[in-house]
Amino acid sequence: MLKKLINDYQYGFSLEQDFYTDPEIYKAEIENIFLKSWLFAGHASQIPNSGDFFLFEFDQESIIIVRTKDGAIKAHLNVCRHRGSHICLEKKGTAKAFTCPYHAWSYDLKGSLISARLMSDDFDKSDNGLHQAHVELIGGLIFISLAEKPLSLKAMRDDLGDVFDTFGFDNMKLAAQKSFPIAANWKLAVENYQECYHCAPSHQEFAKVHAMAASPAIFKKNKENYLDRADENIRTKESSYYFDLAKNGEEGYQYGRNPLLEGKKTGSFDGEGLAPFLGKITAYDGGASEFMVGPVNFFLIYNDHMLGYRFMPMSHGTCCCDVFWFVRDDAIEGKDYDVEKLTWLWDITTQADEQIIINNQKGVASHFYKPGKLSEMEHFEQNFLNWYLKTMR
Ligand code: FES
Ligand SMILES: [Fe+2]
Repeated sequence: MLKKLINDYQYGFSLEQDFYTDPEIYKAEIENIFLKSWLFAGHASQIPNSGDFFLFEFDQESIIIVRTKDGAIKAHLNVCRHRGSHICLEKKGTAKAFTCPYHAWSYDLKGSLISARLMSDDFDKSDNGLHQAHVELIGGLIFISLAEKPLSLKAMRDDLGDVFDTFGFDNMKLAAQKSFPIAANWKLAVENYQECYHCAPSHQEFAKVHAMAASPAIFKKNKENYLDRADENIRTKESSYYFDLAKNGEEGYQYGRNPLLEGKKTGSFDGEGLAPFLGKITAYDGGASEFMVGPVNFFLIYNDHMLGYRFMPMSHGTCCCDVFWFVRDDAIEGKDYDVEKLTWLWDITTQADEQIIINNQKGVASHFYKPGKLSEMEHFEQNFLNWYLKTMR
C-alpha cells in the first residue's frame, strides 16, 4: 500500500490521508526516519555536573542523557538488560548509578552493569551493559542517533563551522524550555513549521517582526535590502543539502539568513533586544538564521538568542513540539534577560500553531479530505515532502 501511495503522489499537493492516519505507515517512519536520523536531545547546560541526567523520549523510546564522571555525555537506552524494564523513572535529576526498580540490577553512569543480585557464577556482567545511542555535540547542542552506523555530520560541520563560531554555539545555555503535546501526526507539525503561508493570518505577533510572513514579492524585496546592508561578519549564504546528502551517508541540513522587518532587532514583542549578543556578534543586523539538522530539528538564530524546535512522534496520531530558548552562557537571568520577555513571541506563536495543527489533523481524518494544491509560499514544505517520500521509498 505504501509503495502505491508514494508512486501516486502528485507533486505540488499535500499528502494522501493514510500518511497522517495509518499506524503501519507510522511504524515504517519510525524505522526509516527516527531510528536513522540525528535527533536533537537537549543541551549540555542541562547536565553540568557528573551524574546529572534527563530523559529524551519519543514513540516507544526512552533515552537517558547523562554526564559521566569524566565530563563526557552519554546516551543510554532506558531498557534494563535483565528483562527490559525502564530503569530510570525520573524525567531528570542527579544519580550516582541507575538501579532498575524491578530486580535491582545496577548500572554505572557509563552504562556498565555493576551489580546483578544472585546471578549464577558464569553470568558475565561485562556483556550486559546498557545499549548506547551515538552522541555528537554541535557546540552545546546534544544530538543522538539510534542508527547502528549513524549518518556523518562532517559535511555540515565543514560548511557551517564559521556560523557556529560566529553565534557562539560553544557558549550558550538553556534559558527556558516548553513542551507542547499535539494531537496530530508529527508530519503536520513539521509541515506547518516549514511554511509561512499561514503566518499572516495566524501569527499577528510574528508578522510584526519577521518579513517572512509577507507575500513572496514583498519578502524578496526585503531580502534584497537586507543582503545589501548585511553585516559582513554574519554569514548570509544559503546551504540546502537537506535532500541530497543522505545518500552519501551524510545527514542533511539547511541554513539561511532571512530579514526581520525594517528596524526590528530580534524576535520580541516590540522588536527590541532581549539579551546580550551571542558569540562574536557586536550589533543587530536585522536578520535571523534558520538552521536545520535532519528532518525534525530546527533552530532560529537571532543576534541575541537562539530558539530550538523539535517535533517528535509519540504515536501515529500524536506528537510533541519541544521549544528551547538559548542565551549566552554568561548572561544572568533577571539582570541581562527576562525569561517572560524572552519566551513571549514563540510561546504565543507555538500556542497558535498547536491549535492550527490539531484542526488540520481533524480535517485530514475526514472521509472528504483530498490532497490540496500547495502555494508558492509552501515550497519548503514541498521540499520536506519530497525528502520524506524519497526516504520512505
Ligand atoms: S528487569 Fe531490570 S532488574 Fe529485572
Ligand atoms: Fe505557525
